[in-house]
Amino acid sequence: MKDLNVIVVGAGIGGISTALALAASGSGHKIVVLDAIKEFAEVGAGIRVSPNSSKLAKEWGVDFDSIEKETSLGNRFVSWKNELLCEVPFGDVEEKYGAPYYFIHRADLVNALRTAASKYPEQITIITDSRVVEYDFSRPAVRTERGQWYSGDLVISAEGIKSSVREAINGGPAEPADTGDVAYRILVPAAPLLEDPELRTLVTEPWATHWMGPEGHAVGYPLRGGKLFNIIVDITHRSDCGEPVGDDWKKSADNRELIERFKDGWCYPVQKLCGMTGEYVKWKLAELERPLQRWVHPSGKVALLGDACHAMMPYLAQGAAQVLEDAATLSTALTQCSEVSDALELYEKCRASRTDYVVRNTQVLQEWLHLYDGQAQQQRDKLMTLDTEENPIFWANKTRRDWLFGHDARKLDECDIPNLPPLPPAEASVYPDKDLRKKLASYTRYKE
Ligand SMILES: Cc1cc2nc3c(=O)[nH]c(=O)nc-3n(C[C@H](O)[C@H](O)[C@H](O)COP(=O)(O)OP(=O)(O)OC[C@H]3O[C@@H](n4cnc5c(N)ncnc54)[C@H](O)[C@@H]3O)c2cc1C
Ligand SMILES: *[C@@H]1O[C@H](CO)[C@@H](O)[C@H](O)[C@H]1NC(C)=O
Ligand SMILES: *[C@@H]1O[C@H](CO)[C@@H](O)[C@H](O)[C@H]1NC(C)=O
Repeated sequence: MKDLNVIVVGAGIGGISTALALAASGSGHKIVVLDAIKEFAEVGAGIRVSPNSSKLAKEWGVDFDSIEKETSLGNRFVSWKNELLCEVPFGDVEEKYGAPYYFIHRADLVNALRTAASKYPEQITIITDSRVVEYDFSRPAVRTERGQWYSGDLVISAEGIKSSVREAINGGPAEPADTGDVAYRILVPAAPLLEDPELRTLVTEPWATHWMGPEGHAVGYPLRGGKLFNIIVDITHRSDCGEPVGDDWKKSADNRELIERFKDGWCYPVQKLCGMTGEYVKWKLAELERPLQRWVHPSGKVALLGDACHAMMPYLAQGAAQVLEDAATLSTALTQCSEVSDALELYEKCRASRTDYVVRNTQVLQEWLHLYDGQAQQQRDKLMTLDTEENPIFWANKTRRDWLFGHDARKLDECDIPNLPPLPPAEASVYPDKDLRKKLASYTRYKE
């Protein structure tokens, strides 16, 4: 492919990754990234970066050595009474997939991506305070709120879950759906945990611990070399899904609501973690429930990327990883094809089925992780000890884990998609209105 002028809308993890992947591909592409934001300010929270996605970023020049991070020992699943049910160690991850699984402070990751972008001053230009309000699909070009037009050979729209252009590209409704859950992200200093003999190892041994109980689960892991501890609480919102504030769906919160939710029956670690003071942010969790009809506008010149086309619940900790993979695949497709429209079509073909499978798995996990105590929960606890297709924990089955961690997003060949784990019995569902079983009925990877 000849050298291209590329307009990227959105300078989130998706937009910056796209610019990096294109600039690092050895081409002379020129990339202009437009973002509405006046000044970049990052939500203080952790992000889990799986092995093959950090490998991609490293190749683009992102310097992970400069980031103070943790290497995950694995995923640990415990009951709300703090009984260990299932452990998926990641000790072999680096050897098998060529990079470790990291816990990183989100701000550190985004900074590292931006620093890498600044190493391509001839190719990448990031322009802030430039909200895009109009797309011209045939030129293609975009117009900002301030009246400036930017045109190029193609436009990549990475506007995140609230994308303004998704429906126009999809050619039909594609509103994000309520998931039934909210998420709290809490960041606390680790020092008080280190002084507590019952909680010390949560910091000194960097596992991601998942406590599962009725209508919710909490995940905790250390950050920044054990100086901070990151807690994510995902619970049914019941009536209070949080007010959307300003341009965002996040809302700062305090811990009174959490203390109330966890006061009966939840184990000491969860109560203690939610009772600590720190930074609290509450998010309404939304998702694109069904795959889009298309990611590429019929003009063949404008495509969606990232959360804009596959926003998902965070239950597989894959949002950012899938976004990085989108960028890598897009860049390879542009290198391999001689026409932009062919490249975009190939990019969509490679990415849509993969991301759809990841989204489906977050939906299945939501059902299992939040069960009430009872027969279905007992069945879950038993299944969680098996290395079979029936294990509801995604990573516990080797085939599925290899599929997720062992993917090379720069290779464009068709990949096999594993079966989905089964669902809990319909009558046990905490989300009967979602009727997931019905929604999955036509999905070939779902076996009843
Ligand atoms: C609670 C929670 C926990 C998570 N945990 C993890 C995790 O552990 N691991 C993981 O991999 N992922 C995780 N994720 C997901 C991950 O954060 C997202 O998938 C990822 O950040 C999406 O990147 P994006 O660039 O597509 O979108 P965004 O990050 O939303 O970026 C979109 C950008 O576009 C800009 N923009 C929007 N509209 C316009 C416009 N019209 N004009 C100009 N600019 C515009 C915005 O200002 C923004 O900067 C989590 C998400 C949540 C909610
Ligand atoms: C893991 O799941 C895959 C895909 O569904 C299945 O083919 C495989 O048999 C499972 N592994 C084991 C050990 O059962
Ligand atoms: C991903 O992992 C596999 C090994 O499982 C490896 O062969 C491949 O090159 C990796 N891809 C990237 C982009 O690092």
